Amino acid sequence: MSEQTIIATCAFGLEAITARELNKLGFDKLSTENGRISFKGDFKDIARCNIHLRTADRILLKIADFDAYDFEQLYQKTRAIKWEDIIPQTGKMHIIGKSVKSALHSVPACQSTVKKAVVEAMQRKYSCDKFPENGPVYKIEISILKNQASLSIDTSGSGLHKRGYRTEAGEAPLRETLAAAMVILSRWDKSRLLVDPLCGSGTIAIEAAMIAQNIAPGLNRKFVSEDWPQIPERLWKDVREEARKSIDKNDSPIIFASDINRRVLRTAMDNAERAGVSDCITFQGKGVEEFSSKKKFGVIITNPPYGERLLEKQEAEELYKQMGKTFSALDNWSLFILTSHERFCEKFGRRADKNRKLYNGMIKCYLYSFFSKENPFKREKLSNP
Ligand SMILES: C[S@@+](CC[C@H](N)C(=O)[O-])C[C@H]1O[C@@H](n2cnc3c(N)ncnc32)[C@H](O)[C@@H]1O
Repeated sequence: MSEQTIIATCAFGLEAITARELNKLGFDKLSTENGRISFKGDFKDIARCNIHLRTADRILLKIADFDAYDFEQLYQKTRAIKWEDIIPQTGKMHIIGKSVKSALHSVPACQSTVKKAVVEAMQRKYSCDKFPENGPVYKIEISILKNQASLSIDTSGSGLHKRGYRTEAGEAPLRETLAAAMVILSRWDKSRLLVDPLCGSGTIAIEAAMIAQNIAPGLNRKFVSEDWPQIPERLWKDVREEARKSIDKNDSPIIFASDINRRVLRTAMDNAERAGVSDCITFQGKGVEEFSSKKKFGVIITNPPYGERLLEKQEAEELYKQMGKTFSALDNWSLFILTSHERFCEKFGRRADKNRKLYNGMIKCYLYSFFSKENPFKREKLSNP
């Protein structure tokens, strides 16, 4: 494929992090809007983005942008696209849609108009009334914002947070993409000790270990566009092969993960095993109040209960108070705590140096950051906390 427009979607608030990841992959001319980053690339780039991006939700292939003030316009402009060159005769066409502040506000009606137009376009090449739709999946998205329609096709399939290692989870698991973003935002590197003392199914610790060892998040899962005839199998193989070669198992990071719930801890250990990082995470069944460390420097990245889904609000607030007391001895540690509780700092007993709005699925959260009082990058010999 010659260069086309690729879109990496991400959660609101993560655009800058995903853009930084794209820069590292070599994409520079990025155009960013809410939850979407567009750039130019080819089929190999689609495979690279799906396999390597840690904080993106999906990778879409952009097909067209046009005005759509009425159904006739939507139908004609969609039908004019050469779908017959994109979708094979057996292609399964699944249309999803959204419409915001537009004359065409009925999403089901937009979806059926697009489907009709795509099918008629395909009939230009394949002389059949009905298509079997038993082949590779083409999930087409029609998105209309202020009467501007945008058509794209999903290349990922399941969301990119599904790495394949978390077949089981605790009660309120954090999205893997958000856990990775928290680790990237903390600027942690493997020269420093990392602790998640409320680790649940271990997502933060596992994502950190994968970052430290340069394990591509999508290495061990499948993507829907792998079944597309236009992307040669060899491209996926090459990208996976390159990713495998760049795994760095030297100087393993030292990561501690603990939780009061021993059952969930078992799940975390199994997840780490599946992710291939159990060698660098030590799991312990204990309460956060038991945490202490002789280490001068370290980083805590954690996601306590919010008092919405797990504990009642009051219990969560008691827990935050306790965390405040326990962590008060860690002057030179940096702390990164994600919760949806708006008065977390008051309960924790310390004002955050920074807070950043992030979304855990639909829940608005804040990443409260407390920075080390001394140079956090000063190296210290790492061992048990
Ligand atoms: C929101 S969940 C963490 C989810 C985790 N980030 C994941 O991805 O699965 C909060 C966790 O805190 C644990 N927890 C609650 N009270 C605790 C305490 N006093 N000490 C340690 N862990 C505690 C719960 O068992 C639960 O697993």
